[in-house]
Amino acid sequence: MTEQRKILVTSALPYANGSIHLGHMVETIQTDIWVRFQKLRGHHCTYVCADDAHGTAIMLKAEQLGLTPEQQIAKVSAEHQADFNDFLIEFDNYHSTHSNENKALSSHIYEQLVANGHIATRSVTQAFDPEKELFLADRYVKGSCPKCKTPDQYGDNCEACSATYSPMELINPVSVISGATPIEKKSDHFFFTLPEFTDFLKTWTRAGHLQDEVANKLAEWLDSGLQEWDISRDAPYFGFEIPEHPGKYFYVWLDAPIGYMASFKNLCDKNDTLVFDDYWKKDSTHELYHFIGKDIINFHALFWPAVLSSAGFRTPTKVCVHGFLTVDGKKMSKSRGTFINARTYLEHLTPEYLRYYYATKLTNSVDDLDLNLDDFVTKVNSDLVGKVVNIASRTAKFIAKSGGTLSSTIADEKLWNTFVAADPIIAEAYENREFSKAMREIMALADAANEYIAEQAPWSLAKQEGNEQKVLDICTLGINCFKALMTYLKPVLPSTALAAETFLNTTFDWSTPLSFYGEHTINKFKPLMVRVEREKVDAMIEASKDEAPHAEPQAATNDTWLDKEPVADEIEFADFAKVDLRIALIANAEHVEGADKLLRLTLDLGGDSKNVFAGIKGAYKPEDLIGKHTIMVANLKPRKMKFGLSEGMVLAAGPGGKALYILEPHAGAEPGMRVM
Ligand code: MSP
Ligand code: ZN
Repeated sequence: MTEQRKILVTSALPYANGSIHLGHMVETIQTDIWVRFQKLRGHHCTYVCADDAHGTAIMLKAEQLGLTPEQQIAKVSAEHQADFNDFLIEFDNYHSTHSNENKALSSHIYEQLVANGHIATRSVTQAFDPEKELFLADRYVKGSCPKCKTPDQYGDNCEACSATYSPMELINPVSVISGATPIEKKSDHFFFTLPEFTDFLKTWTRAGHLQDEVANKLAEWLDSGLQEWDISRDAPYFGFEIPEHPGKYFYVWLDAPIGYMASFKNLCDKNDTLVFDDYWKKDSTHELYHFIGKDIINFHALFWPAVLSSAGFRTPTKVCVHGFLTVDGKKMSKSRGTFINARTYLEHLTPEYLRYYYATKLTNSVDDLDLNLDDFVTKVNSDLVGKVVNIASRTAKFIAKSGGTLSSTIADEKLWNTFVAADPIIAEAYENREFSKAMREIMALADAANEYIAEQAPWSLAKQEGNEQKVLDICTLGINCFKALMTYLKPVLPSTALAAETFLNTTFDWSTPLSFYGEHTINKFKPLMVRVEREKVDAMIEASKDEAPHAEPQAATNDTWLDKEPVADEIEFADFAKVDLRIALIANAEHVEGADKLLRLTLDLGGDSKNVFAGIKGAYKPEDLIGKHTIMVANLKPRKMKFGLSEGMVLAAGPGGKALYILEPHAGAEPGMRVM
């Protein structure tokens, strides 16, 4: 065996505000296969991950669900871990960025950056939601594009004309969170002085840590000049308060990668044989591998190595970047049912089908990869069931007939040598994350073995007496081919490999080159894998159609998450009684000049009249509302909006946009009546 490598491996930490979907699974399956391969080769490999628990999105998500952020992240963490576990992802540790270890490490690293003069303080003017009393990140402000006037654009760039701008430049900017008009507000922010690391990064990005295409992309950014990186956020924020700066928090992306260290630290504290510093000290010779998607390259290949080097830690050995998943050639989509959650997949199909299919698609490039559903069914059935498992099922019964013990004769040296010769080629393909090449090599071997068995036709030979040894030799070679294939496939198909190990009465080991397995007694063959049925795939797509893509940022307008929202925490009757609900007659309804979503309603409460702006323009024509009765919150504190004063709220159900339904009382209810 070659020298044992010591490798620490990570997958990107999934956000704690949504479910794991088949896009995330590209990454964890890719990483898990690589880790299992390393372990199978006899290396010391440790795979850690965690939930990424901080940030505004998670804080708001918890609020929507009536949970504390801590309750929200605990619930999601349990769900994530169950999903990964059921996909046979074998983490050595799964932690959270909201942990003591991460708090200590983040503070330590920040203090190092300060001590080295790599933190600058500057005042920043930002959009601020006066109602929620919250600074608004660009994607929490919407309005019309200042260049082309397209409505409903986010605060950083226009989807229609690609213009970039700051949120306050939007025409009629609105806070996505409250609907209020944002104001500009100043506050002090802390910046990591990234430009000082330009030379370091120019060298680092070309020193073999990255794929060439990634290094080339980064060179464009490096050449056009780096910006200082804003690492602080103001309260309210769910995260870690910055030492000595009450009310200031670390931006989620500062402590997220430190979460890799924190998860490993947490593991070291439970495991005496792992020493944190061995892996993280500046001159560590152990390896550190990060697997990530192409959307988060700058965080891992610019900020992260710079922060680590300033803080006196080692930098990554490799950052391995993969592309995005498409389904049937298109972006995953709710309406097509191709936004498939991990759990929905698992309710219909076996995890190893997807592990294998992804393996046939994964290369070491950042190109997107497609889950083609027809191809998925065909490949799994023809490769795994039709080729690999078939070899065992065709030969096992003849071994059983002759007593269950294999022969020591290699019936066809040439065939066996093909298998031996492929060993290092397949290993190298795994090592370089060329899984699709590894799978092609493995299936070519399976084809060769099947051809051999078909030519030899042991079932015909067995019909004549005197052929017993010949049949045993042929089938022994068949079983050896199967054993080799299952060894090569073990990183991809851990559970089928385990069943095959039971069948062959051995443990597959790939820390030494392939050797012939003769004179061993094997067990009775049991079917190892069933075919995928297209109906199950269709049922999975059907089931995904009404599911929410929990991981999308929650713009209050475009989600069906409300449908599935759990009931909020209990309240006292007295709390409910504070809400004064009244029957109202919609005396008038009209469009509001310049507003995308609002209608102006004049509500008659039986004498008293109220002016209310309601975000129901997508669902109703004003003329259809006039004369209807509805229910309003009559004692809501009036709110000054861009278009005038809003003196209450009408009740409506539904996710928003077109799907919004105002509530209407039964006949007999009169304007002004209290609703209890
Ligand atoms: N929380 C950050 C990562 C912090 S790492 C210190 C994050 N989370 S995520 O949940 O949005 O994504 C987690 C990983 O899944 C990322 O590497 C991302 O690229 C990957 N993917 C998310 N959607 C994906 C696809 N549709 N296809 C392939 N990978 C995708 O980013
Ligand atoms: Zn525009």
